[in-house]
Amino acid sequence: MKIAVLPGDGIGTEIVAEAIRVLDALDLSFEMETALVGGAAYEAHGHPLPEATLKLAKEADAVLFGAVGDWKYDKLDRPLRPEQAILGLRKNLGLFANFRPAICYEQLVGASSLKPELIAGLDILIIRELTGDIYFGQPRGRRTAVDGHFPGADEAFDTMRYSRPEVERIARVAFEAARKRSKRVTSVDKANVLETFQFWKDIVTEVHKDYPDIELDHMYVDNAAMQLVKAPKKFDVIVTGNMFGDILSDEAAMLTGSIGMLPSASLNSSNQGLYEPSHGSAPDIAGKGVANPLATILSAAMMLRFSLNQAEAADRIESAVKHVLASGLRTGDIWSEGTKRVGTREMGDAVVAAITKKTITG
Ligand code: IPM
Ligand code: MG
Repeated sequence: MKIAVLPGDGIGTEIVAEAIRVLDALDLSFEMETALVGGAAYEAHGHPLPEATLKLAKEADAVLFGAVGDWKYDKLDRPLRPEQAILGLRKNLGLFANFRPAICYEQLVGASSLKPELIAGLDILIIRELTGDIYFGQPRGRRTAVDGHFPGADEAFDTMRYSRPEVERIARVAFEAARKRSKRVTSVDKANVLETFQFWKDIVTEVHKDYPDIELDHMYVDNAAMQLVKAPKKFDVIVTGNMFGDILSDEAAMLTGSIGMLPSASLNSSNQGLYEPSHGSAPDIAGKGVANPLATILSAAMMLRFSLNQAEAADRIESAVKHVLASGLRTGDIWSEGTKRVGTREMGDAVVAAITKKTITG
């Protein structure tokens, strides 16, 4: 089993280091190889996704990814910005299915901006299509307008598009995932305005015929954004396009109060995957040893489960994390009165200790 380790920028290196210590503690045999990505790769090689990094990722069974980005790269040409690394990996590895669970951990109910009763027990799975839509649609660019409200003016444009197979395969992923949960899927679209999303809705409805055991409903994206803050527990599996999924997954993650806790997985059709925390590179706290490593540690667990066929090892990590939370340890982002504030390293130490102890006592 080969894991490509791409820590990236900001807090990426600190949090990935802890995930690796946790993986090491499992006593499984992995081959791990680290490479630069994002701003760090740009500094060293002049490109956020160097050939060697892409090659390593393609050859690995799974990629463990930290985070990329820093304000200091905002002025670079778009193809050289750190974000292009993650977009390039998604595209080149064909990682079309993005799983973003939004779970409210019992101990962290108080950290949400919503009332506790709205989010206690929350467990949503957002499935975001990740290689199509306006993110990758061509053509795109800048030009002089020939029509529209201001002919002759400068304009910019992107293309929202989906093909039938793209929608079919992500719909299947969502229905299959729902089978392992509460058997409900909400497909989020903007069919009232956009042709692309009327098409999306039609195809999801067609594919649903193969899944009569699953309940499907459709919701416009603006309403979905509202329902997520009004009654988030009404959702189970949400399936949506790349752009809407980007926005709704941040919303869902934040309302759990646990954004520092949420892992994510991006898979292709051969179950090769990229695993990363749902949060970003947090340059403001980078290098201070205070970042929460749990989202990355839980991403490593998802990696074991989905790409490396090691469900039992994944369970061990997940129960170790629960154990550590129950013991009252908190990094700054999830700290509250009455809990013990720890840094990145101590949090990693505690998870490692919980895993090793479990090994001894069986
Ligand atoms: C995410 C991020 C990325 C996206 C950026 C960094 C390109 O926001 O993974 O949600 O927009 O997909
Ligand atoms: Mg995003």
